[in-house]
Amino acid sequence: MAVTPYPASDFPRQPAALVTGAASERGIGRATAHRLAREGWAVAVMDLDEAACEALAHELSQTHGVPALGLGVDISNEQQVIDALAQVDAELPQLVGVVNNAGISSPTPFTEVSTEEWKRVFDVNVHGTFFVTREAVKIFRRHSLGRIVNISSASAERGGGVYGRAAYSGSKAALLGFAKTWARELGEYGITANSVAPGSIDTDIMGGRLTDERKEVLLQELPVGRVGTVDDVAGAIHFLLGRDGGYLTGVTLDVNGGSHIH
Ligand SMILES: NC(=O)c1ccc[n+]([C@@H]2O[C@H](COP(=O)([O-])OP(=O)(O)OC[C@H]3O[C@@H](n4cnc5c(N)ncnc54)[C@H](O)[C@@H]3O)[C@@H](O)[C@H]2O)c1
Repeated sequence: MAVTPYPASDFPRQPAALVTGAASERGIGRATAHRLAREGWAVAVMDLDEAACEALAHELSQTHGVPALGLGVDISNEQQVIDALAQVDAELPQLVGVVNNAGISSPTPFTEVSTEEWKRVFDVNVHGTFFVTREAVKIFRRHSLGRIVNISSASAERGGGVYGRAAYSGSKAALLGFAKTWARELGEYGITANSVAPGSIDTDIMGGRLTDERKEVLLQELPVGRVGTVDDVAGAIHFLLGRDGGYLTGVTLDVNGGSHIH
């Protein structure tokens, strides 16, 4: 039986990826940007603080010798996203990957959450992801190649997380649905779309790093016997974006140490 040749030539020698929400010091986005740059990707990073993004881009190119671009963007602002993606397209090598990582949490119980908080969570996590992906897909279609990774959460799958409540879980569940639909709709353009659903990862999103007491409680539900790190998540994202990820689409990778098995 003839073996279909691996379409390596479809992948540019130096692809570029965009990582949103990459500025926070101990966050998943920054670790992902570093992991991709280490593997030779050109990287665009976006976050609210422009100076922090520019500093990170400088750090990426100094450390890994790749082109990098840092842009101050509020992803819930449609025009800012449109302008930023045009700049990425103009200034970096061919954009192949987008990592929808920027997000905000909402620890407020459903009966207490304000309309304002609810809307802000959806504005960033859902509408921001929509704006970024729509603009990225325009670029991907020109090249008939693209990889989308949405950073969802175990909270979306199990009904709330350690801190995330209905607004957060609902917004992160939307990302799972988007990725599956994009997988179906955009496959014909050479685009894959997947999600990564981290469990509790030791970052600052929950208002500071996990305390030792909190870690002890988490460990009781973790078959792998340790709390997750940003590098655990970055590795999964890199795999989905890369050359070897091309036959996965519409999947959710649960990077949760076994805390939620389904
Ligand atoms: N840490 C965890 O345990 C965990 C678990 C599951 C999912 N996640 C998800 O992983 C992603 C990264 O989380 P993290 O833990 O690294 O958190 P983090 O708070 O360290 O990073 C989130 C980043 O998003 C940025 N951001 C927020 N609103 C933005 C906006 N409107 N425009 C642009 N950037 C914006 C923040 O400035 C920050 O740098 C989030 O989407 C989060 O929901 C985290």
